[in-house]
Amino acid sequence: MNVINWFPGHMHKARKELIGLLPEIDLIVEVLDARLPYSSSNPLLAEVDQKQERPKPRIKLLNKVDLADPKVTEQWLIHLRKVLHWRVEPVQAQSGLGKDKLLKLCHELVPERGSLDKPLRMVIMGIPNVGKSTVINALKGKAVAKTGNEAAVTRQQQKIELAPGTFMFDTPGMLWPKLENQNSAMRLAITGAIKDTAFEYEDVAFYATEFAINHYRQAFLAHYGLDVEGELDDHGIYELIEAIGRKRGCLRGGGQVDMAKVSRLIVQEMRAHAFGPLSFETPRMMLQEEEEVARQRELKAAKKAARKQARKRR
Ligand code: G4P
Repeated sequence: MNVINWFPGHMHKARKELIGLLPEIDLIVEVLDARLPYSSSNPLLAEVDQKQERPKPRIKLLNKVDLADPKVTEQWLIHLRKVLHWRVEPVQAQSGLGKDKLLKLCHELVPERGSLDKPLRMVIMGIPNVGKSTVINALKGKAVAKTGNEAAVTRQQQKIELAPGTFMFDTPGMLWPKLENQNSAMRLAITGAIKDTAFEYEDVAFYATEFAINHYRQAFLAHYGLDVEGELDDHGIYELIEAIGRKRGCLRGGGQVDMAKVSRLIVQEMRAHAFGPLSFETPRMMLQEEEEVARQRELKAAKKAARKQARKRR
């Protein structure tokens, strides 16, 4: 499987700009994708916060709740609010759901600001495609920020007046330099947060199919009109993708399944919400994955130290 490791040059610029902007900011609004609140969060924020004298008030939005599994969203709300003590609001920016509550909350968190001489200055942050521009447009009540389901559509920093005495800075989407947890990278690729040129559709479709079979089997199989019994190993998943390819006419000369074509189809249909609401991660899954990432990190550090020792001995 190919490793997804994406960090375009403009992301470096965005990071520097954000650090420069924060002293002028009263409140951070971080937008997360409700289907993957862990993988869509931005580790840069914690680092940037440490550089401030006092951490800025912050609200996390779980956006696109209409696409997420409501039972899992509930688990996330409990985890983020009660365990991590974050201020978290579920929203559906596309339909404007939750916007009034959000604006009220922003003003409550910074009560000393919001007038013409002391305006409330907020910044909206989040990885590409989580819906930052859609949130701004919902808050403003008209389209002022460009939206699009393409990673990193917002490139230029903008300052938008939401109402007299209330401003929102819109920053380019930021993704961390190294996608250490490759499961996160796969999930981000499925939802469109990573540019298509940074990954192989066949890898991502394999991950998506395995995930769907393990968590949303009935909806996935019903969508493709297929019936599969029991556990599926890697070979079984591959055969299922082939079966989908045959069903949907993704064929090459000689009747062979075109794996590239069917892979693209599966990812794009999952992205387009074809199997109904689904969530890609739960708080419990994330704890397990974090443990695995920490183990891998230790293993890597031990190997590096051993190589260094060996070089010294030579
Ligand atoms: P960004 O600024 O963070 O990069 O994201 P942006 O607002 O451009 O949104 C990315 C895509 O997500 C857009 O879809 C947008 O409509 C969609 N989106 C945002 N909020 C929600 C939501 O609450 N629910 C759902 N289902 N989708 C949401 P698009 O089709 O690429 O763009 P457009 O044709 O709608 O402009």
